[in-house]
Amino acid sequence: MLTVGCTTTMPVPLFDTTSALAPLHARIDAAIAGVVAARRFILGPEVAAFEQEFAAYCGARHAVGVANGTDALTIALRAMGVGPGDEVIVPSFTFYATAEAVPATGARPVFCDVDPDTFCMTADRVAAALTPATKAVVAVHLFGNLAPVAEIEALGVPVLEDAAQAAGTRGADGRPGALGSAATWSFFPSKNLACFGDGGAITTDDDELAAFARMLRFHGSHDKVTYEHIGYNSRLDELQAAILRVQLPALDTWADGRRAAARHYEAAGLGELVTLPVATAGSEPAWHLYVVRCERADELAAGLAEHGIGCKAYYRTPVHRQPAMAPFAAGVELPMTDAVARTHLALPISPVMSAEQAGEVVAAVRAVLD
Ligand SMILES: Cc1ncc(COP(=O)(O)O)c(C=O)c1O
Repeated sequence: MLTVGCTTTMPVPLFDTTSALAPLHARIDAAIAGVVAARRFILGPEVAAFEQEFAAYCGARHAVGVANGTDALTIALRAMGVGPGDEVIVPSFTFYATAEAVPATGARPVFCDVDPDTFCMTADRVAAALTPATKAVVAVHLFGNLAPVAEIEALGVPVLEDAAQAAGTRGADGRPGALGSAATWSFFPSKNLACFGDGGAITTDDDELAAFARMLRFHGSHDKVTYEHIGYNSRLDELQAAILRVQLPALDTWADGRRAAARHYEAAGLGELVTLPVATAGSEPAWHLYVVRCERADELAAGLAEHGIGCKAYYRTPVHRQPAMAPFAAGVELPMTDAVARTHLALPISPVMSAEQAGEVVAAVRAVLD
């Protein structure tokens, strides 16, 4: 217990990456030992099996394991035919890698605004950024909320889903993963489905796109003899795949836990104090981060820290205002992005967050803002 002034608060961490995993530890250890005993570490049976299982989970024909979610974006864009001279529309309110992957293909990122309630891009915002050079749109399922892929595709432009934060999310048209031309995933240790290091994947229904991505992850070769493209050395490794295979069957239960945590917050009255995130139409987000908005966000963050409540402003400086993006940001005005960048704050969430913990967080928010 932490005593702050006259309030007593049970500390609640921003993430709890250990409790949900605890029941799986023995099986994960056995899976690691199995890979070590087999002495096959790169592109072996564990990666092949994970690719099949993850594709089936997403409802996609193919999954291609790669080294991380950033490479997944670059490789997927190239496999979609994106290259020099092309434009790719991306949100600016996202993790930097979403946009960083675009110049890596030779193309130019074009930033579009987001809906402040859902944190996602909308078809209208994308339409405002379309030009004859637009080759693709990266629709980010930010914080686990589902971007409106079908509506964006209806504009006549291919969509790559950046699903790094959306494992476990469901939508009216299915899970993320095959809603657009392709989807990219990160299995970074804090993600909803996480490995013990870096890892990523590309999922798609498109046979040719999958085959091209498979070549690009191995130096642009399909047979390790002939090199047809300038590619990458970007593989998911056997140890990480084995760890992910143990966890995948638990993902839906964990996602339900995240949704339950959001309901705990609502029931505890958090919406009376700050603006809650709104699920996009038809989506059931597996909230990777539970992000609220508050005009006094920085004051709230400082006060919550004093109460032992984990919280974090992830994207205070939106991507189009980052120094490296200056060549692509001249004249870009994104008022909603600037507003959410200034006012957002992630509160604790995990698959095992209890109503009591949510109540503690809400009480602390009330104490700070009242
Ligand atoms: C929305 C988004 N896109 C891409 C990435 C990049 O993934 P990775 O860190 O595995 O390269 C992340 C990771 O944080 C992310 O949150």
